Amino acid sequence: MTEHVTTAVDGPILTLTLNRPDKKNALTNAMYGALADGLQHAHDDKAIRCVLLRSSSDCFTAGNDLGDFAAISAGAGPAERHVNRFLHGLAAADKPIVAAVHGLAVGVGTTMLLHCDVVCVTEQARLTTPFVNLALVPEAASSLLMQARIGYARAYSLFALGEPVDGKTAVEWGLARHLVAPEALHAKALAVAHTLAEKPIGALRATKRLMRDAALIAQTMDRESAVFAERLKSPEAAEAFRAFAEKRAPDFKRVAS
Ligand code: COA
Repeated sequence: MTEHVTTAVDGPILTLTLNRPDKKNALTNAMYGALADGLQHAHDDKAIRCVLLRSSSDCFTAGNDLGDFAAISAGAGPAERHVNRFLHGLAAADKPIVAAVHGLAVGVGTTMLLHCDVVCVTEQARLTTPFVNLALVPEAASSLLMQARIGYARAYSLFALGEPVDGKTAVEWGLARHLVAPEALHAKALAVAHTLAEKPIGALRATKRLMRDAALIAQTMDRESAVFAERLKSPEAAEAFRAFAEKRAPDFKRVAS
């Protein structure tokens, strides 16, 4: 349980709201646990016909909590990492997921969108996946899904250079479906969710299963997770996390790879 993710059921819609504004909604282990529980609830409850993912503030999420990453890097991580349950929940989800994204969507904040079926963004949305800047690698099956969605050249620039994608470009590249004014974002996403909830759920679920190879996605996640876990323990990553905590730029030339 955490107050940093709110789960609300309103008729056929289950809404998961990221709510840790003072830390830009950076995702802790407990928050991944709450998100994973929410997806499981949506999967199990016949009355739920659509999931809505949103944030309570002007930032979607700054990605994984870097303090948590630093702890894992130092060998002091939690006994159970809920991120894997969350990611596999996304891989297996066959009910529609709608996302409303305003402001920053860093790392998993962007890669989770590859598992959402309708993404609404504002012009101020900034999608970034600076994995290599943190001495890490892509996750959430994004090494497969990102290049399938936007092509290798753009995907590589996102991962390796950490280039941001704004809301308008995200729609042009097919990372999002609707460009919406900030004040209209949540109403638009909710309207899309309600429209989907009116559709025949059997056909919706079958369509999503046909459009996504869930087994391949899960397999890719596992392959990425193994490399990601190694990278987390690397001296390069330790330098990246230290630099973030010390509010300075990392110096990778001084550490062994
Ligand atoms: N993990 C932990 N804490 C984070 C965080 C993260 N991913 N992102 C932001 N925060 C914290 C900051 O440490 C700061 O805490 P403090 O007030 O106790 O010092 C607070 O959230 C506000 O962040 P700040 O950096 O002051 O805001 P900003 O608007 O100047 O910059 C970001 C926002 C997101 C650009 C910047 O915080 C950042 O680069 N965060 C790291 C993003 C990242 O690399 N995520 C992992 C991807 S795999």
